[in-house]
Amino acid sequence: MKINNKNFNLFISKNEIDIIVKQISDIINIDYYNKNPIFIIVLKGSLFFASDLLRYINFNCEIDTISAKSYGNQMVSSGTTEISNANINIAGRHILIIEDIVETGNTLVTLLQYLNSFKPLSVEIVTLLSKPSCRKVDINVKYIGLSIPADFVVGYGMDYAEYGRNLPDIYTISKE
Ligand code: IMP
Ligand code: MG
Repeated sequence: MKINNKNFNLFISKNEIDIIVKQISDIINIDYYNKNPIFIIVLKGSLFFASDLLRYINFNCEIDTISAKSYGNQMVSSGTTEISNANINIAGRHILIIEDIVETGNTLVTLLQYLNSFKPLSVEIVTLLSKPSCRKVDINVKYIGLSIPADFVVGYGMDYAEYGRNLPDIYTISKE
């Protein structure tokens, strides 16, 4: 598979993704059944994960979105995170942030700081993927679908320079 002139190999199939997503939702359905939380989808990478995960959620909840940009157009995290959301009303509520992938953790540190300034009751993080060997800051990620090596991935919402988000499976960069 070629995306933006780079070769990628199949890494996690859509069937495997579905099993992982279902497993996370089973746990959240127990942990949050009476908490009336707000799920906050981190755009754009988490769109697909969030829409699949939320369809398995079986309790009352609200959904909001927030935009966090950190990658620029490269494969290396830029270190600065731009956040935008015009209308955030989370005071006194339980918040679950939905992320596609946690790498250095920088994006989430910025996001947590931003959200905590609105005085929510609690904030936890749900991520489909995590690259623990890339972590630069110590953050507590409560729900992790799968921990993977440091290699760059695309598909299922995640992009390489904005391409590849539409792929139903997840691909990893080819080392050849
Ligand atoms: P962090 O701030 O370094 O933790 O990076 C997190 C953000 O970078 C994620 O929300 C993703 O949008 C993006 N990201 C990290 N690793 C990858 C990857 O392998 N492929 C595509 N996007 C990634
Ligand atoms: Mg993201």
